[in-house]
Amino acid sequence: MAPILVVGSINADQVVVTDIVPRLGETVIGKSFKIVPGGKGANQAVAASRLGADVSFIGCVGNDTNGTFLLNNFKNNNVITDGIKIIDNASSGIAAITVCEGKNSIIVAPGANYHVTKEIIDEKIDLILKANLVLLQLEIPLDTVEYIVDICYENKIPVILNPAPAFKLKESIIDKVTYLTPNEHETETIFNTNDFDSLVTKYPNKLIITLGEKGLMYFDGEKVINIPANKVEVVDTTGAGDTFNGALAYKLVNNASLKDSLIFANKAASLKIKQVGAQNGMPTLSEMEE
Ligand code: RIB
Repeated sequence: MAPILVVGSINADQVVVTDIVPRLGETVIGKSFKIVPGGKGANQAVAASRLGADVSFIGCVGNDTNGTFLLNNFKNNNVITDGIKIIDNASSGIAAITVCEGKNSIIVAPGANYHVTKEIIDEKIDLILKANLVLLQLEIPLDTVEYIVDICYENKIPVILNPAPAFKLKESIIDKVTYLTPNEHETETIFNTNDFDSLVTKYPNKLIITLGEKGLMYFDGEKVINIPANKVEVVDTTGAGDTFNGALAYKLVNNASLKDSLIFANKAASLKIKQVGAQNGMPTLSEMEE
């Protein structure tokens, strides 16, 4: 199977489920607590791998117990870890996640994820050059992401950039990526508009805006296409976007059309949100078929 490379973040997610979100200065009693594997990069890699893709990863963890836990999680999910570096003087990335009524708020402390530098990319360049598709997010330094986009563009390797969390992007980066997959908030930050209908027409078959419970939209070169979300009981939306991106990568490297890939990815994301934890609920191919 064609290899997918994910370059990105790896976090230990510290998840509190609560009925009340505290205001600044307030303490509330929550319902449950779990530490689970996460990080947008890691989640996307696991999502693609669970579906059966051949996935490698470039990233960094700290030399700590979270690092061991996160590397083991990759191994358990068949993600190839040759591109992962252990950084001695940094902690592994963590995310403090509050889940309330199925919705989340997240603070990331990047730790080792900010050690994914251009030098590491140069060391692991072979993994990029043999990939059929590269999947990126924005939880590692932005200049590293830009560097990878340039390498992929020069070598005609397709790139999905999931611009999360959102930062202003150079127009040249938007031009060079094959697909850009922001959610509504990220779209507004990057493009400074909420007129999504006009915006997508400027980036045919490239800009795919995910709209949560409203599904997603893109422009196919002739018309704006809206793909509705599947109706499911929402337990935790954490990782739904990552599942979408991983599943999209899986379908695209298997030569499906963009539209079919998006329908598939949308369905995969809706299966994920039935369980607590970013990677819990990410479907296998047989679960998708069921
Ligand atoms: O997209 C969800 C992810 O964002 C979480 O797993 C958390 O680690 C943050 O990176």
